[in-house]
Amino acid sequence: MNTESLFRPFALKSLNIKNRIVMAPMTRSFSPNGVPTAEVANYYSKRAEGEVGLILSEGTVIDRPSSSNDGNVPHFYGADALSGWQNVINGVHAAGGAMGPQIWHMGVMDNHQSGWLPPVPFEGPSGLNRPGNKNGNAMTDADIADTIAAFGRAAADAKRLGFDTLELHGAHGYLIDQFFWEGTNERTDQYGGKTLAERTRFGVEVIKEVRKQVGEDFALIIRLSQFKPSAYDYKQAATPQELEAWLTPLADAGADIFHASQRRFWEPEFEGSDLNFAGWAKKLTGKATITVGSVGLSGDFFGAFAGQSSEPSSLEELVRRMDRGDFDLVAVGRPILADPFWVQKIRDGRNNELKGFTPAALGELVVA
Ligand SMILES: Cc1cc2nc3c(=O)[nH]c(=O)nc-3n(C[C@H](O)[C@H](O)[C@H](O)COP(=O)(O)O)c2cc1C
Repeated sequence: MNTESLFRPFALKSLNIKNRIVMAPMTRSFSPNGVPTAEVANYYSKRAEGEVGLILSEGTVIDRPSSSNDGNVPHFYGADALSGWQNVINGVHAAGGAMGPQIWHMGVMDNHQSGWLPPVPFEGPSGLNRPGNKNGNAMTDADIADTIAAFGRAAADAKRLGFDTLELHGAHGYLIDQFFWEGTNERTDQYGGKTLAERTRFGVEVIKEVRKQVGEDFALIIRLSQFKPSAYDYKQAATPQELEAWLTPLADAGADIFHASQRRFWEPEFEGSDLNFAGWAKKLTGKATITVGSVGLSGDFFGAFAGQSSEPSSLEELVRRMDRGDFDLVAVGRPILADPFWVQKIRDGRNNELKGFTPAALGELVVA
């Protein structure tokens, strides 16, 4: 099939990429004490060699004492971790790639199965990580102000190290999304409220601070999802009007690109139209968007965490939507986790060489 539309260049502010394919951010937990190793750098530079247009890093956490629930998730603060990230971006650039870190604060989490715990309790808008499940503290105004400043420092460091863009992780039920979601935000101050529009305030303030730190010309991505890991089919915005009320303040605050996370990109967001989440985000804001979710695979990523394999599948529907102008970029997760050279195989029509995805790939940093 003709995949040419995936192989047009794309440029926006600081971002200049050779094709429309983005490596989705994927936590790997291969960074002991939060420091990305030479193996991690090699894992990313292999994807640049494999001609992934834009690499988004795994989520990498900001400088707050309980921003993570896993000692092997990389930090985006501190001299050792930042020097590890310097090696990562140098390697990616040397191989002709472009990259942005995914800047993350996990918010309130379940305790990690390893038994590792941060030095202080988890923090979030109301101490909840899902309705009725308290496993942390409600943040004070001082906590919120310090957290926003820490997002800003991470952004300034991303630019200083030479990354091409950065992505804020505002999806999947983590800190920024815990503020968006009424199920985890029970605040009655200015960071809470009955409407989604009111609950965007924390996200808006984070974006404004990040924008202040990186300047106007640095491309800023924010990742959002309707679903939560504890509520797969949840619709945070039940109508296009609510979606508009959620996204417009984020766009006005300085987001350039919406990364609209879905489990399956072909699922319509609202009744009466086949537009997906990225399609609606672009239509409502006029901003560039990234779609994602089971591109080129038969099963979704929750299945992968439950130990399921996936077979390669056709890109026809993806290309149909891309050609219609629904979104600008396409993020691909598991196929690129499992195969650094997936993009080249797609471009060259070497479909018989596609590997699909087996959960074994989760246990290693695949480089060949
Ligand atoms: C192992 C693994 C780790 C992930 N970690 C993250 C993460 O750190 N941040 C994030 O936003 N999404 C994360 N995701 C979700 C992916 O970015 C992506 O949205 C999802 O896998 C769907 O894309 P796919 O069907 O192409 O794999 C992860 C997914 C997988 C499989």
